[in-house]
Amino acid sequence: MIITHDHKVALVTGAGSGIGRAIARRLAGDGAAVACTDVSTEGADETVRLIAEAGGRAIALRCDVRVRAEVEAAVAATVEQLGGLHLVVNNAGVVTMSDLDHLTDDEWDFVVDINLKGQFIVAQVASRAMTDGGAIVNLSTVEASVVVSSSGHCQPHYNASKGGVPMLTKALAVELAAKGIRVNAVAPGPINTRFSGGDITGPEAMAFMSQRLLVPRVGEPDDVANAVSFLLSDQASFISGAHLPVDGGWLTR
Ligand SMILES: NC(=O)c1ccc[n+]([C@@H]2O[C@H](COP(=O)([O-])OP(=O)(O)OC[C@H]3O[C@@H](n4cnc5c(N)ncnc54)[C@H](O)[C@@H]3O)[C@@H](O)[C@H]2O)c1
Repeated sequence: MIITHDHKVALVTGAGSGIGRAIARRLAGDGAAVACTDVSTEGADETVRLIAEAGGRAIALRCDVRVRAEVEAAVAATVEQLGGLHLVVNNAGVVTMSDLDHLTDDEWDFVVDINLKGQFIVAQVASRAMTDGGAIVNLSTVEASVVVSSSGHCQPHYNASKGGVPMLTKALAVELAAKGIRVNAVAPGPINTRFSGGDITGPEAMAFMSQRLLVPRVGEPDDVANAVSFLLSDQASFISGAHLPVDGGWLTR
């Protein structure tokens, strides 16, 4: 199977670190010109530097996915500087480690606005610019389907925000089909990034996770990038509305 994104323009949110950086690098490696957007300009700049070093084409843009004006500016800059927009990855996401008793309204809004409302704003604004059709992938998580209690307690705001992603994905897939845009989601299991703030490769974390993992390791950002690149490609042209686990078998039992 050959995956190519030659002559395609992609926009990735949260491309300044972790999974978003791996996705941006993978899409550029597969031939796309990539707009690397993030609230962290330093992070986005570094991703662009890594892509350029490998011979790819990318630009860095500051964009907070909660702020419509910033999303509109990033999409307009992408079209103007890279010549169009075909592929979008709603990757930006956050978590805070608060249990129900300590969870504040502000924390709820912070996490839900970035993880769920941000995907809506980006999909709405970007799809208007995707005049030749294309594909969108939204980042979900196994925690959209099960409660992992990863820091010894639940994160209700994170579970709720990500629980909305599969249904948002289906609704977008239905509405955007008429424009020739496919929409899918990937649901990573534990991936080795700075996301949760702790070391997920240590013996204590591995003892907890190995009760569920069928593949005996944590995931790497490239594991997710591989699935995203496939779903965005023509090799996945008959797939829309799907929620694909990339989880080492976490959701299997
Ligand atoms: N790491 C995991 O184990 C894991 C598991 C399941 C799902 N995910 C999902 O994968 C995605 C990426 O996570 P990661 O592990 O790479 O985390 P990360 O913290 O390394 O990267 C998140 C990126 O999003 C950016 N960001 C934060 N707020 C933003 C905003 N308002 N607007 C734009 N960008 C913003 C950050 O600056 C950062 O570059 C998230 O949606 C997360 O929920 C991660």
